[in-house]
Amino acid sequence: MTANKVCITLLMLAATQLAFAGGDKMKTPPNALWQEECGSCHIAFPPRLLTEDNWKKLMSGLDKHFGDNAELNAKDRQAIEEYLTRYAGRGARNSAVSLRITETPWFAREHRSISPKEWVHPEVKSRANCTACHQSIARGRWSEHDIGIPGRTGRYDDDD
Ligand code: HEC
Ligand code: HEC
Repeated sequence: MTANKVCITLLMLAATQLAFAGGDKMKTPPNALWQEECGSCHIAFPPRLLTEDNWKKLMSGLDKHFGDNAELNAKDRQAIEEYLTRYAGRGARNSAVSLRITETPWFAREHRSISPKEWVHPEVKSRANCTACHQSIARGRWSEHDIGIPGRTGRYDDDD
């Protein structure tokens, strides 16, 4: 490789890192195993939304997973745990004893504009049903411009 090519490669690497660090904070480098195994019953929840400790506990109890059995073979479990903990969130605001993202202080704060009635709307049902409101998750988009709340007229308007 010429010095020039090395330089361009390094620049591209740096840009990739930046894209993950800033912009859409929920994005992590793609991981097919995680996407497939943890995205079949619900969306593959972004690693950042729980702490390393939370993920470890969750991954060690997959046979009793919120009333379901989500058990994996040891190799896949370990690989997914490594991925989740590598990109995990930090601090009390991203942590919940129940291991539910929807019960972290972060979630409550971010979703404070949603009324009790809106949470139980037939199209929402569960707080964990992120796609009911975040309609562009499949394209990796979580921002407020990509939210529609079932039962609310018009698009979501940020009133902050
Ligand atoms: C067999 C189906 C199934 C599989 C596979 C599965 N889950 Fe779940 N998961 C569930 C169910 C059911 C819930 C409870 C959803 C609810 O309360 O609405 C849940 C909830 C969760 C929650 C809590 C959501 C919240 O904040 O309320 C997390 C975090 C989670 N799963 C992570 C994972 C991870 C990581 C994997 C892959 C290792 C995985 N799940 C695989 C069925 C599954
Ligand atoms: C009932 C609708 C609804 C559900 C269900 C819902 N959200 Fe949200 N979400 C919102 C609204 C409204 C906001 C506030 C947007 C703002 O003001 O920035 C928000 C904000 C967010 C943000 C911050 C976006 C930003 O750029 O500011 C993230 C990330 C997020 N939600 C993730 C989740 C996850 C993960 C789930 C499922 C576990 C979920 N949401 C379930 C409606 C919902």
